[in-house]
Amino acid sequence: MTTTVYLDNNATTRVAEEVVEAMTPFFCERYGNPSSMHTFGGSVAKAIDEAREKVADLLRCLPDEIIFTSCGTESDNTAIQSTLEAYPDKRHVVTTRVEHPAVRTTCHYFRSRGYRLTELPVDHLGRINLTDLENALTDETALVSIMHANNETGVIFPLDEIAQIVKSRGVVFHTDAVQTVGKIPLDLGRMPVDLLALSGHKLHAPKGIGVLYARRGTKLPAFMKGGHQERGKRAGTENVPYIVGLGKACELAMHHMEEENTRVRALRDRLQEGLLRGCPSAYLNGDAGFRLPNTLNVSFEYIEGEAILLMLNSFGICASSGSACTSGSLEPSHVLRAMGVPFTRAHGSIRFSLSRYTTQAEIDFVIERMPRIVERLRAISPFGRERETARAK
Ligand SMILES: Cc1ncc(COP(=O)(O)O)c(C=O)c1O
Repeated sequence: MTTTVYLDNNATTRVAEEVVEAMTPFFCERYGNPSSMHTFGGSVAKAIDEAREKVADLLRCLPDEIIFTSCGTESDNTAIQSTLEAYPDKRHVVTTRVEHPAVRTTCHYFRSRGYRLTELPVDHLGRINLTDLENALTDETALVSIMHANNETGVIFPLDEIAQIVKSRGVVFHTDAVQTVGKIPLDLGRMPVDLLALSGHKLHAPKGIGVLYARRGTKLPAFMKGGHQERGKRAGTENVPYIVGLGKACELAMHHMEEENTRVRALRDRLQEGLLRGCPSAYLNGDAGFRLPNTLNVSFEYIEGEAILLMLNSFGICASSGSACTSGSLEPSHVLRAMGVPFTRAHGSIRFSLSRYTTQAEIDFVIERMPRIVERLRAISPFGRERETARAK
């Protein structure tokens, strides 16, 4: 069997061994309910508090601003729905055209319920124009929801400047930071962000755990109603092992952050250089200078991303076309379309996303295989053949 070269870390990451180790006692040994009066349960509540502190350390915020949820999607949904419930008289939401479906679909839902929605455009490098943001804000605006970094291209939005603009107008600001937490530094003590979503499985914790950060004083009616857990903001018995695992993952992320920004970035740049040099008509998507250090999105013109993925898969290489949630559909990615990437390129786009576990040998393996894959697919692609014929004339 071919060994797996896993370059799909923006879809999900391998759970760190240290995380599994931290979680293990909370299944069969320390399984008490943290709300119980006995010490057996009470000691578990302490483990939750410790995990909360670790998450808060990574985000540089207060522990009581952390609400544990089940995933990034739940955190995004809660931020949007609860804010709109808190401000029933304000019927306008501002977002961008390149958000993850967790935000995009929720915003579209509210548009279908009569809200006015402004989706800010991006330029060819995936950047928003801050003047567009300023012009979009009105007295009717209840919420601005703008992601920190894009899951498909890795392009990072200037969060600090965005937050300053939004808060200067007294509007609630939410950011989907699912792709940035643990990869690049964040300082919520300095940035006027009100609400932020993160997801455990993007930073080497398991799937099924997330966080909604809510700055002290932010109006947030309970999304899940029931018990008193998470200070009444999110009822339901806590998912203790996963919360503990996320705490550990945040602690590890703090230690690995520098490595992500040096070694992983160097590997990503090596892959980019190798692919753009080795494959004709290959183009980088996104702002090269302002991108997540682990993400590379390349279009191989005139061929289908799905076909490339299948061939990569036959060599044990895992990557993705579009986001994990939209792949499977033949529609080109809404992110690349918003950037104005031509049809013949948008269809052949591949996202490679690295992690602390990626090795140089793996990167070199992809650099070696990719030119042959592209050559073979171009030979059988009707667009590719047309291009060759045009060239020969
Ligand atoms: C930017 C972004 N937001 C939200 C999500 C959803 O997170 P989860 O899978 O934890 O629901 C993802 C997952 O791919 C994402 O990349």
